[in-house]
Amino acid sequence: MGFDSVYSLLNIGKIMAGPNSIESIKDLVAGYSAQSVVIITDQGVWNAGLIDRPKAILEAAGVNVKVINNTPPEPTVAEVTEIFDAAKKYECQMIIGIGGGSSMDVAKIVAIMLNNILSLKDLLNKASVERRGVPTLMIPTTAGTGAEATPNAIVLVPEDELKVGIVSEKMVPDCVILDPTLTVNLPKSITAFTGMDALCHAIECYISKKANPLSDTFALKAVGLIARSIRRAYNEGGDLDARHDMLLGAMFGGISIATSSTTAVHALAYPLGGKYRIPHGLSNAILLPHVMNFNLDVAQDKFKDLAVAMGIEVDGLSNLQAAEKMIENLYSLIVDLDITFSLKEKGISESDLDGMVEAAAKVTRLLDNNPKPMTKNDMRAIYQKLL
Ligand SMILES: NC(=O)c1ccc[n+]([C@@H]2O[C@H](COP(=O)([O-])OP(=O)(O)OC[C@H]3O[C@@H](n4cnc5c(N)ncnc54)[C@H](O)[C@@H]3O)[C@@H](O)[C@H]2O)c1
Ligand SMILES: [Zn+2]
Repeated sequence: MGFDSVYSLLNIGKIMAGPNSIESIKDLVAGYSAQSVVIITDQGVWNAGLIDRPKAILEAAGVNVKVINNTPPEPTVAEVTEIFDAAKKYECQMIIGIGGGSSMDVAKIVAIMLNNILSLKDLLNKASVERRGVPTLMIPTTAGTGAEATPNAIVLVPEDELKVGIVSEKMVPDCVILDPTLTVNLPKSITAFTGMDALCHAIECYISKKANPLSDTFALKAVGLIARSIRRAYNEGGDLDARHDMLLGAMFGGISIATSSTTAVHALAYPLGGKYRIPHGLSNAILLPHVMNFNLDVAQDKFKDLAVAMGIEVDGLSNLQAAEKMIENLYSLIVDLDITFSLKEKGISESDLDGMVEAAAKVTRLLDNNPKPMTKNDMRAIYQKLL
């Protein structure tokens, strides 16, 4: 059967990848004739010493470097605004985001706001963005959100207890450095959570109603890389090959998002992050197998493709059997990564579920792309399994 919809992908301008590719930061910045740059990062990345080298390389090349290192995890509107105000004072010609999705998302928003007369509130209210931001370089240190490749940035709106996605093609970064040496000391639990987030991106984009030949290519490749290396990256953090696979897989997941979209896993994760501050990757990890189980009857063929991409033996199996094996594999993966979290640990009980369902049902941007319509009762039943 042919493909009858129009689809598109606006991709990153330049990608430098491989061990020690961080050295190329000097040339990338010189390519934009930037004399003055702002690095946006967070305390964890700063304390891990990951800013020292890029900062020294740039300063040795005569570039003026200012570092903002107080990005909080999963930042709120007020926190992003505060960082924008600080960055604005420095009059830089380039914004460099170094860290996980939190730092990169803030860097993407700051760059856009520096070049447009728009407040963060305007952006959250879906005001159209006229101009690209100041040039951006993203250096992911988790693997990860794939934010280095997406047109999205996510901000927590505390009064609505919801995370809101800002989406604009103008926000796709200009350049990216994928250096696995920066991720070898990523703590185990963060390796597990962010790796599962990347796997969710790839799987969801593959089964999404917006899936297309471009996203399929990147999503299947991402699933293969992540499936073969996530356990190794978790158990042997210093394994550079596994870390390399994870960084590539995470970026391919991000590229899939840029042309397809995530679905019900991410929609149901939004209230967990927005109200209960459960980390993004953890929320998605615990939801993934249950949501795929829900989709089983409409997505068997695609689940079989995913099973093959994961290296699961499917010879002689029907599509349904292969699909079931793929879902079993997702359940065993979260066990292997020691993800045993239940919602009760956050004090969530039966009486909270209706509120969570109402909040998740608002995320129609993603729910509408799920291959099977999800009613509020369906959502409740899935949350119930996580109690
Ligand atoms: N823009 C997008 O397309 C997109 C996609 C998915 C998620 N997100 C957003 O990204 C955010 C989550 O990002 P995340 O999961 O990457 O986590 P994060 O950026 O919040 O980082 C998690 C923790 O890991 C630490 N850390 C990061 N790299 C490290 C390293 N190499 N060594 C030691 N510590 C390190 C950080 O200091 C932080 O404490 C959420 O706000 C989420 O909504 C955005
Ligand atoms: Zn995600």
